Amino acid sequence: MFLAQISDTHFRSQNEKLYGFIDINAGNADVVSQLNALRERPDAVVVSGDIVNCGRPEEYRVARQILGALDYPLFVIPGNHDDKAHFLEYLHPLCPHLGSDPQNIRYAIDDFATRLLFIDSSLAGESKGWLTNDTLHWLEAQLSASKDKPTAVFMHHPPLPLGNAQMDRIACENGHLLLKLVERFPSLTRIFCGHNHSLTMTQYRQATIATIPATVHQVPYCHEDTRPYYDMSPPSCLMHRQIGDQWVSYLHSLSHYAGPWLYDENISCPVDER
Ligand SMILES: [Fe+2]
Repeated sequence: MFLAQISDTHFRSQNEKLYGFIDINAGNADVVSQLNALRERPDAVVVSGDIVNCGRPEEYRVARQILGALDYPLFVIPGNHDDKAHFLEYLHPLCPHLGSDPQNIRYAIDDFATRLLFIDSSLAGESKGWLTNDTLHWLEAQLSASKDKPTAVFMHHPPLPLGNAQMDRIACENGHLLLKLVERFPSLTRIFCGHNHSLTMTQYRQATIATIPATVHQVPYCHEDTRPYYDMSPPSCLMHRQIGDQWVSYLHSLSHYAGPWLYDENISCPVDER
């Protein structure tokens, strides 16, 4: 298994910029080009929510066109900026696993050594996250049915506060109910989220829990300052690889930079002429 996880694409309508100055659609198109050009090719790309910025059909049209250019299978879930009905209508062709019920978007992927569970943690009209009873029952049933297989959950909102003053207020409000499932099911070892527009990692029992950066604009982590900052620090995504029994995740830069070069030990420590 080799997955590329990107997040929080916040697409805008054609020719519209985010916050009036961020060319988010061009930035996302560049990310798609970078992923398509990878020499070591992922089995699939995951997009962990906030696909568009305002939940509008015109934005989903752009999202479908640009994400549709990815050369990989796509696994998507909604975030708080998404509209569930429009999300499903426009993105189902790119991700048939989404099903047909916008109020119950969730699916399992059993193609890999680790089981992947995708759930919707968004609550219509709210920035905070919420897990419905139906979602929690579905998760419990999935975990009960496959107790021996390592399992990862992908959701938009982190299920617990991470000490982030701006974002903790809009984390998944009843995420503790998912943590109860972590306690009950040792097979649940990974929870990967978007939402915070930054790489943040923590541990709950056996489960690694992380939020990942966004494709274009980021949110600096502040522990005390609650004001709603964002910035244009370099974007990146998270790569997830199964290496034997080990799930390994690493940051992959989506900014443009010099290199890579092949290390040459002959020029590493030359005799410096003075
Ligand atoms: Fe977002």
